[in-house]
Amino acid sequence: MFEELKAHHASVADRRFETMVNDTRAAEFSAENGDMRLDYSKTNIDGAGRDLLIDLLDRTGVAAKRDAMFAGEPINETEGRAVLHTALRNLEGGRVYVDGQDVMPEVLATLERMERFAKEVRSGDFKGQGGAITDVINIGIGGSDLGPAMAVKALAPYHDGPRCHFVSNVDGADIAGVLRQCDPKTTLVIVASKTFTTIETMTNARTAQAWMSESVADTGAQFAALSTAEDKTAAFGIAPTRVFGFADWVGGRYSMWGPIGLSLMIAIGPDAFRAFLRGGQAMDRHFQAAPWKENLPAMLALVGIWHNQICGYATRAVLPYDNLLARLPAYLQQLEMESNGKGVSMDGAKLPYDSGPVVWGEPGTNGQHAFYQLIHQGTRVIPCEFLIAARSHEEDLHHQHQLLVANCLAQSEALMRGRDLDEARSKVAGKFSGDELERQARHRVFEGNRPSITLAYPQLTPEVLGQIIALYEHRVFVEGAVLGINSYDQWGVELGKELATALQPVVEGEEDASGKDGSTAALVAFLQKHGV
Ligand code: F6P
Repeated sequence: MFEELKAHHASVADRRFETMVNDTRAAEFSAENGDMRLDYSKTNIDGAGRDLLIDLLDRTGVAAKRDAMFAGEPINETEGRAVLHTALRNLEGGRVYVDGQDVMPEVLATLERMERFAKEVRSGDFKGQGGAITDVINIGIGGSDLGPAMAVKALAPYHDGPRCHFVSNVDGADIAGVLRQCDPKTTLVIVASKTFTTIETMTNARTAQAWMSESVADTGAQFAALSTAEDKTAAFGIAPTRVFGFADWVGGRYSMWGPIGLSLMIAIGPDAFRAFLRGGQAMDRHFQAAPWKENLPAMLALVGIWHNQICGYATRAVLPYDNLLARLPAYLQQLEMESNGKGVSMDGAKLPYDSGPVVWGEPGTNGQHAFYQLIHQGTRVIPCEFLIAARSHEEDLHHQHQLLVANCLAQSEALMRGRDLDEARSKVAGKFSGDELERQARHRVFEGNRPSITLAYPQLTPEVLGQIIALYEHRVFVEGAVLGINSYDQWGVELGKELATALQPVVEGEEDASGKDGSTAALVAFLQKHGV
């Protein structure tokens, strides 16, 4: 499928793309919509390459697949489910059918219930045994944690509700650290789990219940649940009035727009939460209507495919120069890697090309003082994705924001331009001479010609965050659709879960490790010797 693109890449691979980057290219190889500008001009994609990439979208039927997703068709074929997280932000409530049934009345009714509850918690009308709620603990993992945790941090300037804490890890250190900060009599615990069976979440939920029961008579009254499994929430003792359900056509890692976003809604208030939904919906409309060349999710996906499947760059660094987005890389790791980390195509055949890339990153400028060394001078090329706001929320520290912006732009410039040997020599000429000058200069060479893209926006408001998250969701969709994989299942997490369940009695010493491989048995023995 990628032959022509690979041949094109081979013919331009040695070109220094810096030589192409002028004003015209900057305009031609950027796309703008709403509050976003995506600049992909600092890459080796040229007009012919882009045409071939766009051609891929047509050859793989991405438009039809996109329309099928929005129309509620069961595009998650291995689980026989529709993929309709977009319905959760369909605020005007235009009809969306699943199996002939309009799902919007229920979606909007649940949103309104969430809003009523969030308002009660925020106003103090909803009380714990000790009075108004001061702390909310969201217990969930993966998609039931990363989205709201990322967004609560991202929208900290809008946070005017009770304190929000997130517990995900089954490691007791996680929940113990949070419980120590909270008063059980004024704490609301939200158990967030699509399935309500996830062992980490259920274990932490029971720990929170036991903690609260030491000082609160009716613990159930201070618990809420977010789940598709309402029977299981009842069995846990949570009253239906505080259970916010959603349908199985909302994937875990796509679920923050609905009930899984309750902690975010309590933190920033229903109006700001609606603004977040509006941002997501605006990106949906753009994705559905814009021609491919101007279509941000499509172009972001094509740049990803160019770097990963065509150039063979196996990883992608997400580098938000926006400290509020500190959790975005972790959030995107699940969104992108759980969605597109698949080894077979939709029909079960082994994938004849690489699946989605490794996604990683940290906020700038912190990363500059940690791993950028490798990005600039290491032997592997790592495409970088920068995010930058024109304005921060810290108006009194405007000069710091300008410094941040300068750093962000300088990094993409440095990656592109590099520094050749002559320039490196001139940098050290005053200090060294002869062979030593040559040796010292070589250490200061930057090859450059390293690609990056920049996503710029005016300010990280709820609406802009909604646009950013929906942009990445649709990017994942487009990459998956081109690769012909199912982006909406996650069978790859099952084996580890099954083996952990089987190993638990071995670790506890109730079963011996005889059936285990030598390495696992020896590690169990070592940990048991030291008190596990
Ligand atoms: O194990 C992976 C996974 O199923 C994710 O896809 C999901 O987001 C996470 O676990 C949590 O699942 P749940 O919301 O059902 O507890």
